[in-house]
Parts: sequence; C-alpha cells; structure tokens
Amino acid sequence: MDRLIVEKSPPLNGIINISGSKNAVLPIMAASILSSGEVKLEEIPRLEDVLVMEQTINAIGLEVEEEGNNLYIKSTNNIKCEAPYELVRRMRASFLVMGPILSRKGRVKIALPGGCNIGTRPVDLHLKGFSALGADIEMGHGFVEASAFRLSGSKVYLDFPSVGATENIMMAATLAKGITIIENAAEEPEIVDLANFLNEMGARVIGAGTDCIRIEGVEELKGTSHTVIPDRIEAGTYMIAAAMTGGRVTIRNVEIEHLRPIIAKLTEAGVIITINENEIVIDGSNGIRHVDVKTLPYPGFPTDLQPQMMSMLSVAEGTSIIIETVFENRFQHVPELKRMGADIKIEGRSAVVQGVDSLTGAEVRATDLRAGASLVLAGLVAEGRTEVIEVQHIQRGYVDMKGKLERVGAKIR
Ligand code: UD1
Repeated sequence: MDRLIVEKSPPLNGIINISGSKNAVLPIMAASILSSGEVKLEEIPRLEDVLVMEQTINAIGLEVEEEGNNLYIKSTNNIKCEAPYELVRRMRASFLVMGPILSRKGRVKIALPGGCNIGTRPVDLHLKGFSALGADIEMGHGFVEASAFRLSGSKVYLDFPSVGATENIMMAATLAKGITIIENAAEEPEIVDLANFLNEMGARVIGAGTDCIRIEGVEELKGTSHTVIPDRIEAGTYMIAAAMTGGRVTIRNVEIEHLRPIIAKLTEAGVIITINENEIVIDGSNGIRHVDVKTLPYPGFPTDLQPQMMSMLSVAEGTSIIIETVFENRFQHVPELKRMGADIKIEGRSAVVQGVDSLTGAEVRATDLRAGASLVLAGLVAEGRTEVIEVQHIQRGYVDMKGKLERVGAKIR
C-alpha cells in the first residue's frame, strides 16, 4: 500500500477498538535486553516500528517469537554490544537499546538515530545521563560509543523532560550500583508502563509518573509477563476524527486518565463526551468551535495530536491558535492542509487557524506519522477525493487505520 484514497464521508458511527501503545511497547522491548529470563508481552500493536525493534533486539542477540498479539523475548548468552546501523537509522526509538546494552554489557556502540522528520531531535540528554552514571562517551562519525565497567547511581537533572532520555537513563540505572535520581523527568504514561515492566522483572523504580524518579540498582533482572497499555495517541486521533465529521463513535479499550488533555480540549470545542469504564463516546453533532492549543510535555496537550487537532480546527467555527513548544519543526502538515483549502498562517512556533466552511480534496503527502494521520482526517471532511501519498509513515504507528475507519463508515481505500 503506498497511498490512501479518502472521500468525503458521512458522520462516523460505530465502535473503534484501540490497540496497544506503540510508544510504550518500543522502550519495553528495548528493556527486555536487561532481563536474563524470558519476557512475554501482550497486546503488541503489529506495526512497522515494532517490527524494526524486533529486528534490532534480534540482531543484538535476543530470541524473538511472535504469536498473535503476543511477543516472546528470550535472553541468550550472546548479547552483542553493537546495534546495526541499518535498523537504528530507520527509527529513532532504536536508540533506546543504548541504555540497556551499556548497563548489561558495560560497553555499547550505536549509530545516531533516524526517525520522523520533525526537528533535529538530538540525544544530548541521553548521553548526559549515561555520563553522570559514570560512562565514558565517545562520539565518532555518525555513531556514539559508551563504556563503563559498571554504571554507578547518581543524580541526573534533565534540562527538558525528554521522554526518550528519561526512559534510556531509567533502564540503564536498573543494573547500576547504588541509587539514581532523575530530576525533571518526563511524566508520560509510557514511562509509567516501562517502570511497571522493569519492576515486574525485579527492578526497584519509584516515582515514575512524577518529575522525580528514583532507581535503586539491582544485580539481575528476571523474566516476566506484561500487558502493554492502550495507545492514547491512536485513541485521540479517532476521537478527533469522530468529532470533526460530526459523528458518534465509541472508542474502546482506552485508559481514560491518559486522555484528560484531549478530553478537555474537545469538550472546550463543543464536543459531547461520555465516559464509561474503559471506553469513551464522542458525539460531534453540535459542531466544533475554535479553541487554542499549546503542546507541552504530559500532562499537557500531546505534540503527537497537534497535527490532527489542526485538521479539526481548520473546519471549526472561528479562529484558533496552536502553539507547538515540544518540537521546533512540526508544522509540515500545514502546506498540505493549505493545498486542501485550509486557512493557516505560521509565525515561528505558532499557527493561526481560521476555520473555513469546507476543505477540498487534493493529492497530499504524509511527511511524517502524525502529519499523515491529520491528512487522512482532513480527507474525511473534504469535498471530493483526497489522495494521501507516502502512507508508509502512517503504517509506522497506526494498526489498520483503513479498516478501523472503514468500519465506522469512512470512505477510504
Ligand atoms: C517521544 C515519542 C514521540 C513524541 C515525543 C514527545 C516515542 C517512541 N516517541 O519521542 O512520539 O512526539 O516523545 O512527546 O516514545 N531533546 C533534546 N535532547 C535530547 C532528547 C530530546 O534536546 O537528548 C528534545 C527534542 O529535540 C525535542 C524534545 O526534547 O524537541 C522532546 O523530545 P523527546 O521527549 O526526547 O521525544 P522522543 O523520546 O524522541
């Protein structure tokens, strides 16, 4: 599949089931490197990025076996200190194997990461953390090497609450000698899921979900079985799709607490939301009003839902202001939305979105994962036919987006 063709669709109606979280499962798979036993992961989303991580940890020396939505990962006596360039280049999250390899083997060499094209995305905070834990860091052409006989616990202050740096340092600290404290840590639900997984393997991590995480190093981590949390970004994407088409959709298998920022903003925009135990009903039949959105680290509004929100506000009543504070280059969907007739002006990190009566279908390019999702959503309300090309980006992060939307009435093929 290289393109998705979306036609103006009726208000979406029905039920969408949410898959396991991509951003939770990737660090958890990397953390399996730390285990000397067998790990079983349940509710794995079958995605391109997950496949890349499978291949990466396999190349490092772990045995990986799939069975339905479960993944079995087994440690071997042959864990390598080097992650293959070809795989790391394809996905930024591959860099998350650095902390676990360093901690387990005392040495690691890894290529500098690739991934979504949404800014420079450096790894200085990851390296600052490893260095504080006593690792010697050396940078080469396009790769980084780190070594330490055994890492030792320390205090690490993050200049920005980076999700990846918090995860990488937390993983490295589990087998370090002594106590590590991460200050100004990221508080995302995926960090909590990773900490739970590490603790199930015998680690001693407390405070995940707050800005201060304390890790007491242990000698060894054993095997465990873990169910991955639902994907809050996938859920948010379909909540927005339901709202902007004026539809009524039940989104199932969600963790309501993780959706607070998006629930708050959609409610402010006039969407009627009913919350049940692990499902949420979105009713957009009253229309959408303008709202202002500022992306922030959790529990602020997620940057990963900013493009989708912009699609919705492009057809809302009134003028909305969107401020992107997490990534410096995350407005690549804007020129594409403008090709569809959206009225958006960018000023630095802010976008002024003047709602229009309707969009018009066009050929548009998915420049990255969430930008791609935002264009599919725009296609649902645009007059005529929208062709979204380069949909491999979408497949990195959404399980069967076509099927899930089709089953609630979207015209998509
Ligand atoms: C993760 C998510 C991604 C999400 C992002 C922010 C995964 C696999 N990906 O990415 O979907 O958009 O969190 O919620 O979980 N930064 C530095 N130095 C560093 C690390 C980061 O300056 O060493 C900066 C980045 O350039 C960026 C900001 O910090 O501007 C946030 O990045 P970070 O939280 O690290 O995002 P990721 O972990 O890459």
